[in-house]
Amino acid sequence: MTDTVTIAIDGPAGSGKSSVSKAAARSLGYGYLDTGAAYRALAWHVLDRGADTDDEAAVVAAASDFDYAISLNPDEYWVRVGDVTVTDAIREPRVSGAVSGVARVPAVREQVNTLFRRLVAESGRPGVIVEGRDITTVVAPDAPVRILLTAAPEVRAARRSAELTTEDAAAVAAALHKRDASDSKVVDFLTAAPGVTVVDSTDLDFTQTIDAVLDVIRSGTGGS
Ligand code: DC
Repeated sequence: MTDTVTIAIDGPAGSGKSSVSKAAARSLGYGYLDTGAAYRALAWHVLDRGADTDDEAAVVAAASDFDYAISLNPDEYWVRVGDVTVTDAIREPRVSGAVSGVARVPAVREQVNTLFRRLVAESGRPGVIVEGRDITTVVAPDAPVRILLTAAPEVRAARRSAELTTEDAAAVAAALHKRDASDSKVVDFLTAAPGVTVVDSTDLDFTQTIDAVLDVIRSGTGGS
């Protein structure tokens, strides 16, 4: 259990890190942990209680009563708060717009980071790909493989708008830019920390990006 290898992948919204991490985990037989989902689920929980995500005391109170569960199976992804499955609800714009307020609270970050380390240790998998914003620097700075997955802002916005199947690319680009700006006040996820390998997917398609990430993982974990 304690032998589970952590693969840390950080990157901004629209860098492809979720789908790439999931595909890489599948191909290696590893678990996949989406850390952003915990912040989103907590934001959902705060809103569900009728509280304000910009009210730090209300966020801390909600966090003390946060019964959170997430699947680490890349083939069967779900997120729950208590008895409620929130897998889709946490992607809604009202949650995306509120999540930065939750993620900026230091006590919340400590609480979820402890949870992430426990989920990895208890995963029963040979390895877990942990994907987020501060995994390479705070959650797992000693991980044998640490990757920053980036892409040019216009490419990220185009991918995000394709995912959302929306015509309004300008609105998507504006929302992405706004979230990058508020997220990067909390964690600098646009600069690689020392020892972190940058994979820039601007000119890579999905398969090429997975292959590039798998190459880095294999060389960092001794092959296979
Ligand atoms: O990756 P995502 O868009 O689902 O992340 C949701 C929010 O959580 C985003 O605003 C950034 C924040 N986040 C964070 O602060 N640290 C992480 N490790 C992961 C996400």
